[in-house]
Amino acid sequence: MIRRLALTTAAILGLGLGAAHAAGEAAHTEDFDFSFEGPFGSFDQMQLQRGLQVYTEICSACHGLRYVPIRTLSDEGGPGLPEDQVRAYAEFYEVWDPALLDGDGDFRPATPNDNFPQSSLSNAPDLSLMAKARAGFHGPYGLGINQFFKGMGGAEYIASLLTGYTGEEKEEAGAILYENTAFPGGYISMAPPLYGDDVVYEDGTEATLEQAAQDVSAFLMWTAEPQMMARKQAGFTGVLMLAILSALLYLTNKRIWAPVKKSAKAQPAE
Ligand code: HEC
Repeated sequence: MIRRLALTTAAILGLGLGAAHAAGEAAHTEDFDFSFEGPFGSFDQMQLQRGLQVYTEICSACHGLRYVPIRTLSDEGGPGLPEDQVRAYAEFYEVWDPALLDGDGDFRPATPNDNFPQSSLSNAPDLSLMAKARAGFHGPYGLGINQFFKGMGGAEYIASLLTGYTGEEKEEAGAILYENTAFPGGYISMAPPLYGDDVVYEDGTEATLEQAAQDVSAFLMWTAEPQMMARKQAGFTGVLMLAILSALLYLTNKRIWAPVKKSAKAQPAE
């Protein structure tokens, strides 16, 4: 009985590990260094602004950010744009307003109170939460150990995807697929959106492929988790409080049991 149980367990484990291993081999996520990594990491405001520029000028042609209110662009801890700039930025987009034209609805320029539009290309997924929806790091054997040390890797996955094109293409059922080392399965239907020098940064940063890919990935990390810095701060305060509480409890415990310990020493048990 026990032997059979052990054999079954081994078989299941073997299968599971084998499958996880096979699935993990195809895609590769580069471990980029982002400023927001680690327990004290925070978003780099200039990088978020550059990422917003890349998103606006390139990705927004196909992808939407429909869960992100435009006004949050002025939030502290985010891109931190001045409010008049946010207002001017919002007008760049058109939104459908059902109340216009006596209820018939019409398009109007967006205001900061609107959300970003949804994807304009039907098969391009919305990017609002993409950095949290995709995990870049798994293994070894899908145990999540890499996630423990390197984080979830959502931003790394997006940056790897944007820099992972090999230049190979193939046609399948009438659609062109592009080979990409980061995309599970190896072929993606998104044409390479970045080649390097696709945008001109105002802060003088050189817009290489790697730079623009990391900037837009950092920006998408912020759209997916805008309160990351507040969360880390609250976590740190919590850990500090618990550490102090533990020290106090330890001392209290010593003091409460001190008389008992003393009398136990005076009369050793037989
Ligand atoms: C010409 C339209 C187009 C542009 C421009 C574009 N994308 Fe895409 N994107 C797509 C399509 C289509 C897909 C779906 C691909 C698939 O599932 O095969 C996609 C998928 C993605 C995915 C999801 C991959 C996954 O794991 O499912 C990410 C992330 C992404 N794009 C990021 C970007 C970023 C960042 C930019 C701007 C630098 C960008 N895209 C520009 C069309 C576009």
